Amino acid sequence: MPAQSWSPSSWRSKPIQQVPAYSDPFALGEVERQLSGFPPLVFAGEARKLQRMLAEVAEGEAFLLQGGDCAESFAEHDANNIRDFFRVFLQMAVVMTFAAASPVVKVGRIAGQFAKPRSAPTEKVGDAELPSYRGDIVNDISFDAAARVPDPQRQLMAYRQSAATLNLIRAFAMGGYANLENAHRWMLGFVKDSPQSHRYQELADRITETLGFMRAIGLDPEGHPEMRQTDFYTSHEALLLGYEEALTRIDSTTGDHYATSGHMIWIGDRTRQPDHAHVEYARGVKNPLGLKCGPSLAPDELLRLIDLLNPGNEAGRLTLICRFGADKVGDHLPGLVRAVAREGRKVVWSCDPMHGNTVKAASGYKTRPFDKIMSEIRTFFAVHQAEGTYAGGIHLEMTGKNVTECTGGARAISEADLHDRYHTYCDPRLNAEQAIEVAFLVAELLKAERLGRGRREADAAE
Ligand code: PEP
Ligand code: CO
Repeated sequence: MPAQSWSPSSWRSKPIQQVPAYSDPFALGEVERQLSGFPPLVFAGEARKLQRMLAEVAEGEAFLLQGGDCAESFAEHDANNIRDFFRVFLQMAVVMTFAAASPVVKVGRIAGQFAKPRSAPTEKVGDAELPSYRGDIVNDISFDAAARVPDPQRQLMAYRQSAATLNLIRAFAMGGYANLENAHRWMLGFVKDSPQSHRYQELADRITETLGFMRAIGLDPEGHPEMRQTDFYTSHEALLLGYEEALTRIDSTTGDHYATSGHMIWIGDRTRQPDHAHVEYARGVKNPLGLKCGPSLAPDELLRLIDLLNPGNEAGRLTLICRFGADKVGDHLPGLVRAVAREGRKVVWSCDPMHGNTVKAASGYKTRPFDKIMSEIRTFFAVHQAEGTYAGGIHLEMTGKNVTECTGGARAISEADLHDRYHTYCDPRLNAEQAIEVAFLVAELLKAERLGRGRREADAAE
């Protein structure tokens, strides 16, 4: 069957899920018209570079670290938040780069992660029932009838906040803040204060020694830009398609369409129907794409989605972000991995250990137990090891702040602690310490994977 023609608005003739009920189509159209005249947030060349990096991940030569807020908020838009997140992210990347002895591709859920799919269209508190909160780009989180009315003007605010956030991130990434020795020093501070420091100390010491050796032979950040700068990319769920369409631009060098709202966009687990609007929009833009894969996705449907989203079988184009839950990943992942391998499809396999592990605490808070998160990651690596495929990345909901949203971790946050600093606008995030702990534990898995591969290569050479 010939591919159907595509345009940035062709999604409009398809069935669609998770659409806000805007009451004034003219006001919405006016906002979309304004957005379509605004400058792009990211450039096509950057998205292409990210795809090249992700192609290395697909080939097993690099590792993807993707993470950030479940939902960014207008109220918490300040420099300290962004800086603290960036700092934690860099520390994680240093630890994982060292353990894997290969590049870590850094992709934030940031500078555009504002729209949320919801499992129910309304929310009940006591007897009152209101439309669900759908992210700050759509409506307001306060449980108040006026606040929950979708307001198109919020899209302009989301665009401006994304631009300001990206501006600061670009300065951090290129202006010296991302210096390897800074990240290393922060990481040592984390290890010193961690109740699990004995577990992390050895790896930390080896990184210290390596950096000392590099300095001794003249490899220092002053003389080597790659040691004081880093590539950092943005990503978000492309859920609000009117906004995405308005920011879609033709790249003048290639003539291709790109979503310029972020470097990488993904399709959520609730909106991945092959004949629906979200898949239609994503298939036509050239950005690297993510596809959330949950327990309801069957292998043949996954292959159909891969055909639609990556018909040219380009490495780095498509990242499968698996989010089954610790108790389901072992049952569901092998079938998908086998189908993709059998058909020779080039994908990045990434593990989102957050969205399948959400539970409700007795107090009513949504939370995620740290042990379940780590258990899903471990099983994910074990499945790939058994299938002879590559566990290419992790996708986390995390913050640079010391929140209490996920239970467990070295500080053993309990359900009774959750109310202390439960600040998320949507799903519970790993706090700074828990996120760095995940990086150290993933580092152990990456190292084991690297050593296993080395042994296999040596055996093959004999
Ligand atoms: C998310 O990443 O915040 C999300 C809603 O994920 P999923 O589509 O996998 O449920
Ligand atoms: Co989430």
